[in-house]
Amino acid sequence: MFCQAVSIGFLVFVSFAGLSNGLSDTEELTSTTLAYLSTCKAISAVISDASDVYYPPSSQYAADILHWSVASMANSTCSVEPGTPEDVGKILRVLASTRTPFGVKGGGHSTNPGFSSTLGVQISLSRFSEVIVNAASGTVDIGPGLTWDAVYNALASTGVTVVGGRIPGVGVAGLTLGGGYSWITSQHGLALDNVQAYELVLPNGTVTTVTETEADLWFGLRGGLNNFGVVTKFTLKSYPQAEIWGGVLIIAEEYAQAFSLAAIDYAARNTDTKAALIPSFNYLAANDTLLMTALIFYDGPSPPPGIYDELLAIPAVTNTVATGSFVDFFLSIGPLLTPDGISRDFYSGVPVFTYTPALVSVLLNETTFWGKYLGTLDPSASITGALEPYDSGIFSHGSASAYPPDRSRALLPSNFGVGWSNSALDSVVHDVIKQASQTVHLAAIAEGQHIENAAQYPNYALFDTPLDQMYGANVPRLRAIKSHYDPENVMGLAGGFKF
Ligand SMILES: Cc1cc2nc3c(=O)[nH]c(=O)nc-3n(C[C@H](O)[C@H](O)[C@H](O)COP(=O)(O)OP(=O)(O)OC[C@H]3O[C@@H](n4cnc5c(N)ncnc54)[C@H](O)[C@@H]3O)c2cc1C
Ligand SMILES: *[C@@H]1O[C@H](CO)[C@@H](O)[C@H](O)[C@H]1NC(C)=O
Ligand SMILES: *[C@@H]1O[C@H](CO)[C@@H](O)[C@H](O)[C@H]1NC(C)=O
Ligand SMILES: *[C@@H]1O[C@H](CO)[C@@H](O)[C@H](O)[C@H]1NC(C)=O
Ligand SMILES: *[C@@H]1O[C@H](CO)[C@@H](O)[C@H](O)[C@H]1NC(C)=O
Repeated sequence: MFCQAVSIGFLVFVSFAGLSNGLSDTEELTSTTLAYLSTCKAISAVISDASDVYYPPSSQYAADILHWSVASMANSTCSVEPGTPEDVGKILRVLASTRTPFGVKGGGHSTNPGFSSTLGVQISLSRFSEVIVNAASGTVDIGPGLTWDAVYNALASTGVTVVGGRIPGVGVAGLTLGGGYSWITSQHGLALDNVQAYELVLPNGTVTTVTETEADLWFGLRGGLNNFGVVTKFTLKSYPQAEIWGGVLIIAEEYAQAFSLAAIDYAARNTDTKAALIPSFNYLAANDTLLMTALIFYDGPSPPPGIYDELLAIPAVTNTVATGSFVDFFLSIGPLLTPDGISRDFYSGVPVFTYTPALVSVLLNETTFWGKYLGTLDPSASITGALEPYDSGIFSHGSASAYPPDRSRALLPSNFGVGWSNSALDSVVHDVIKQASQTVHLAAIAEGQHIENAAQYPNYALFDTPLDQMYGANVPRLRAIKSHYDPENVMGLAGGFKF
């Protein structure tokens, strides 16, 4: 869920060991590179003054290709920062006619290599950075170049909020296009259930607005990520936001059992949709230690008694839980994270129906077992196993969408995250995280949870996850929509899950 670093010392440690995946400086200019360079020049020639193309080693280029997970970074030939939707359309036309690979980056938090990066042309949406509150319509227009930090900061003085990310640094675009689990999802559904309109640049370059009346694109964009074009504006429903209660608990290994039980009891008993909790187990190979963290949120100045008592009774190394503003709570999670571009990271989701003591103990054992194993190969390795208890009604807040394919029952989008430094271990980490996820999946089935066909959350799914495991019976319709709106397969030149 969130990253593995839970102490400043660890952050310093990984920053020494990181970034070892270089191509040599003397990489020759191949004919492919030259072709990509001529595409960059062709883009420069067609875009307006509102947009710019950048090359290494400029600071703009470096910012445009930056990704949170180093495993997701690639040295594109150039980057382009479009400033208008029309320029996005012109860029897509050049990319289509030259068949040049490209990446579309919002917040750059995809942990899957190549999903928003490329060796060709990196499109960075950073210039789409508006936050406009429309009080009359009860909506907020939000640019896809923003992170949720910027959105919540901008909204802090307005008294309204939107259904968005839980963790600092994550982008508006990918989170909203892939699903969007929020601190207020138990109250209002996924981020994608709260979109009122998309401004979309179609693969053929036409700028359009998609609302519920465009039934096919409306269905596809809600969960279908970058298959249907490039979104240049999201109009999201707004909700009143007053003071909240929340913060971070960090708990030592000796309380693992009590922590597990408190998390399981919360998941089983809580019915207050204003409450949210992310409990996680974090194994750090550098210290051979396990730490538990609980991110706690209640959408009110204090929670009713009972909800968090068991968790709060466990002695904590750190406890920042307090009443305050939503944005202060959100930003307080930041120090737990590794900054962008420091560590390699993969995610892999394990959707389940319920957390039982046996299942959580399997998840914990997988976290420490594989964490210790990876630690023998890379001392900077870390694994987080996160639980995400939500209300049973989370999928009742919206209509049919690409994801989730089945809204009849809630799935809890549990997740493993692995951090490491040595790029030679990428395929080992892939196999480990896949194995750990599969073990938890099978353990849930063995205890009688019928999750054989439970949909993987596209934003947590490892890059080789088959489409039907995320989109289920929606795949044929999504393929038909895709071939209608993108007959030239322009979006196939960008990485990601493809219909
Ligand atoms: C530390 C961390 C915390 C997270 N916390 C949460 C959480 O609380 N809730 C949750 O639901 N998920 C969470 N996630 C998962 C997150 O939602 C996904 O990683 C998401 O895709 C990131 O969006 P981004 O814009 O930052 O990523 P990017 O890597 O920029 O983009 C992700 C995908 O979206 C596509 N895309 C980006 N912009 C556009 C656009 N404008 N038009 C079309 N396609 C576009 C990209 O091409 C790529 O395929 C978290 C991930 C991390 C690493
Ligand atoms: C983990 O180890 C690092 C250095 O290896 C140290 O600075 C840090 O304090 C340790 N953290 C914990 C939680 O023990
Ligand atoms: C990108 O290029 C720089 C400079 O040559 C190099 O240090 C870095 O490792 C490269 N990154 C990738 C992902 O290839
Ligand atoms: C822990 O997980 C490993 C790997 O899946 C497994 O081999 C081992 O038996 C597990 N240990 C326990 C106590 O379940
Ligand atoms: C682009 O695609 C849309 C949707 O298929 C279509 O309506 C429009 O006419 C196309 N525009 C051009 C210029 O081909």
